[in-house]
Amino acid sequence: LERKRNLNSLMIDCLTKPMIQLLQKIGEVADEVPVNAFAVGGFVRDLLLKKRNLDLDIVVEGNGIEFAKHLAGRLGGRYRTHERFSTAMVLMPDGFKIDIATARLEYYEYPAALPTVELSSIKLDLYRRDFTINAMAVQLNPQQFGTLIDFFNCQNDLKQKEIKVLHNLSFVEDPSRIFRAIRFEKRMSFTMAPHTARLIRNAVKMQLFGKAADTRFFSEIRLIFSEENPIPAIQRMADFNLFQFLWPDLKPHLKVDRRFLHILLQAQRAIDWYRLLYLKEECDNWIVYLLAIMGRSKAEVLEAFCKRFLVPQKITDNLVWQKMHADKVANLLARRNALRNSEIYWLLQDLDIEGLLYVMAIARKSTVKKAVSNYVTEMRQAATLISGRDLMALGYEPGPAFKIMLNDLLDARLDGIVTSKSEEITFIQENYPLNNLPENGRNA
Ligand code: CTP
Repeated sequence: LERKRNLNSLMIDCLTKPMIQLLQKIGEVADEVPVNAFAVGGFVRDLLLKKRNLDLDIVVEGNGIEFAKHLAGRLGGRYRTHERFSTAMVLMPDGFKIDIATARLEYYEYPAALPTVELSSIKLDLYRRDFTINAMAVQLNPQQFGTLIDFFNCQNDLKQKEIKVLHNLSFVEDPSRIFRAIRFEKRMSFTMAPHTARLIRNAVKMQLFGKAADTRFFSEIRLIFSEENPIPAIQRMADFNLFQFLWPDLKPHLKVDRRFLHILLQAQRAIDWYRLLYLKEECDNWIVYLLAIMGRSKAEVLEAFCKRFLVPQKITDNLVWQKMHADKVANLLARRNALRNSEIYWLLQDLDIEGLLYVMAIARKSTVKKAVSNYVTEMRQAATLISGRDLMALGYEPGPAFKIMLNDLLDARLDGIVTSKSEEITFIQENYPLNNLPENGRNA
């Protein structure tokens, strides 16, 4: 019999009051239905590590969908169900999401000889998970509230900081877990248990990635590139020979060589620089890293990667466009010296921030980096002081010419030719004399 540990005081120390109240509520609703309800997975792992985790995954022994409907009713929230998987999502009035899954015995068929009869459904649910550190549960029903469910001595692996699969077929069933193993290992500075590392090497030998038609691969790759510092994980992917599946055209660089590492570090520098300056602005770091990795490849290679990993078309189009445009601009910037600010502005203005940071990452010349950083911090926000309204007040008739005039003025502003409102007005009057305007430029 497992010794049962209670996490009540840990929860009080580590979770917010509203979160504890929510967990209690879930437990009460579970009793009403009645089902057994558990918080599982990353939530429990991070609670034991005293780390923040904003995802809540619930597993119920019983009908998860019925439970979700009932819970949504009691919390005044909405729900969405996936009947096929017996899962549901409850959306709270404040936007918080709770994922609910059903633990039911008949769903699991194991090729491995498992004496299923002696397993409760939560036990089997946990056994099917990726790693021991993610295979614990906390019961929420009021009588057992806070009881840690740990069938496989997972606490010990967490203490030993080890990433360990629960059974030998884990990567065969879901090869995307290879990326997860690497991500968790590097994020938390854990180590892979030798047997688990061996299973990964076997899975790679068996070419489990051969058919990549599984959206989970891309999700996991994206998650790796979104980590605080993805570089150690990228190096680890190379160690495990995963590049041959991910970026086969990088063959000469299957190992993370110096040049490759240099580009990654430059991407990281650009991202860190931007984050420091614009804390609150969104930037999809994963895009910068992905573009940087493909920095020396053709756009078609990136497109093929997206196809292989079932990246949604809209995302693919954006990635490919950013790459093509950024590569072109990076080339132009490197070839031409002494560009005017206004020229730099029009070259860069169509790129997203991810594309801009990518240009910084691949640029070899410091002048190019400087141009982009200047654009991001100064020019991007540049605007003329006068507007169409002012042009009308000066006697010009609104029309397509306004755009040309104001763009011209913006150039002058970027290049330091005008610096005040009165200079802008003079600039317009000198360059577009009212008595000398093409057709519709003049105000009757
Ligand atoms: N899981 C799994 N196999 C996968 C993906 C997920 O077994 N391929 C299980 C794990 O038990 C995991 C849980 O589903 O804990 C939730 O998955 P997810 O939200 O992706 O991960 P977290 O563990 O919450 O990690 P993160 O901190 O990255 O959100």
